[in-house]
Amino acid sequence: AADVESDLVEVLFTEAQIQERLAGLAQQIEGDYPVTDGEPDLLIVGILRGAVMVMADMARAFSRHIEMDWMAVSSYGSGTKSSGVVRILKDLDTDISGRHVVIVDEIIDTGLTLSWLTSNLSSRNPASVEICTLLRKPEALTMPVDVKYVGWDIPNEFVVGYGLDYRERYRNLRDIGTLAPHVYS
Ligand code: PRP
Ligand code: MG
Repeated sequence: AADVESDLVEVLFTEAQIQERLAGLAQQIEGDYPVTDGEPDLLIVGILRGAVMVMADMARAFSRHIEMDWMAVSSYGSGTKSSGVVRILKDLDTDISGRHVVIVDEIIDTGLTLSWLTSNLSSRNPASVEICTLLRKPEALTMPVDVKYVGWDIPNEFVVGYGLDYRERYRNLRDIGTLAPHVYS
């Protein structure tokens, strides 16, 4: 269909629900990282490309100074993440030594990406590293990931919108939902 929203069979989270949840997460994070004189600002790290929407909206929900940086990573092999290997396509521009870091992503599926990123960033001597994800699929987890900030746990269903793609489409939907079967056929 020409109207991309009509390809959703069910809306799981509306734009308004997403914004409200992100504001809650930003408030929670602000409370956990008190501003101290002379300390560098909290650094939030978005994982390209899916986390672009979450980063843009959550960053604007903070009422304190934060810094933003980005990483792009990719699994080896085609399609699946079964190899368990992650490589960096774009690294941070920031030296995170001594910094408090929160990694931001829109979904944790198997956990491979965030598990690997957490240990990678932890090896750079930051003051701390935590994870914030809008969505998590507990049933799909194959790697242990310690996630401090979660928007919602969801069933193991394929979801699109708000950064989440199906073959690169639907990232620009305002809502998050499940795709209608006609899209696959
Ligand atoms: C997706 C998603 C997460 C990751 C989660 O990114 O944005 O970053 O997969 O899956 P995992 O828990 O099984 O590792 P993807 O690598 O598809 O790239 P994208 O962000 O560019 O869509
Ligand atoms: Mg991603």
